[in-house]
Amino acid sequence: MNNTNDKSDTVLNHTDCRPIGIFDSGVGGLSIVKCIAKQLPNEHLIYLADHLHAPYGDKSTAFITDRVNIIAKILIQRQIKALVIACNTATVNAIDQLRKRITIPIIGVEPAIKPAAIYSKIKRVGILVTQATATNGRFLALVKKHSIDVEVIIQPCPGLVELIEQGDINSYQCGSLLHNYLSPLLAKKVDTIVLGCTHYPFLLSKIQNIIGHNMKIMDTAAPVTKELHRQLQKNQLCQADQNQGKLELYSSNPSTLIEKTCSDLIGHPITLKYF
Ligand code: DGL
Repeated sequence: MNNTNDKSDTVLNHTDCRPIGIFDSGVGGLSIVKCIAKQLPNEHLIYLADHLHAPYGDKSTAFITDRVNIIAKILIQRQIKALVIACNTATVNAIDQLRKRITIPIIGVEPAIKPAAIYSKIKRVGILVTQATATNGRFLALVKKHSIDVEVIIQPCPGLVELIEQGDINSYQCGSLLHNYLSPLLAKKVDTIVLGCTHYPFLLSKIQNIIGHNMKIMDTAAPVTKELHRQLQKNQLCQADQNQGKLELYSSNPSTLIEKTCSDLIGHPITLKYF
């Protein structure tokens, strides 16, 4: 056997069965979990939802940073091999300081402004975000970077996350809030809308009912999963055994209602444990 074969055998045989840690303020990050579980079915996933402190969208950077650090510590104690911050608000507010201190791969979620700016034919893009993302310096710098020949309209959406958490997406209140938040984007005649919060993909059909099916809607689950896969491969962290990966769900404030919301969003019954 020559050296080249020896090397490729080593790479192929290498497997890392440690879990991937994923978290959000609540159930929103499950939109990312669903994509990861589908694309990387061998991987064991541990999801933490910080319900006791949700939503993050009306909190300060200091508060969000504190929560991110506490949750990262809990997940690292569970021997995770990579961390996915499945939350735009937590990413823009706290990822930089976390990356300076933690050596495992950290994958964040940032609104898909760049692909939207490239895609938009009329160069007018709308972006739905939480209040804490809308005012964040890192987010505003990202918008500025991609606004050279594109108009980006930022629309904060207070109240939507709470309704999704309560499983109230079919309510009159949810429809009315969506109308209020989408109207300015329709008035500006954008042709592309970015979902800049991981909760919002769960409102996709409601959004389409209002704006129709001709407008492009972008979320970040697929690119985040792709980046996670790239990092796992690069660092030889993939779970190569053909076992079905497990999904464990934890909440800082579990309840029967939240467990039902999680089950509905994931598409099968799940058990929610306390962390
Ligand atoms: N799902 C989160 C995000 O992507 C957090 C929303 C919130 O807690 O306000 O921003």
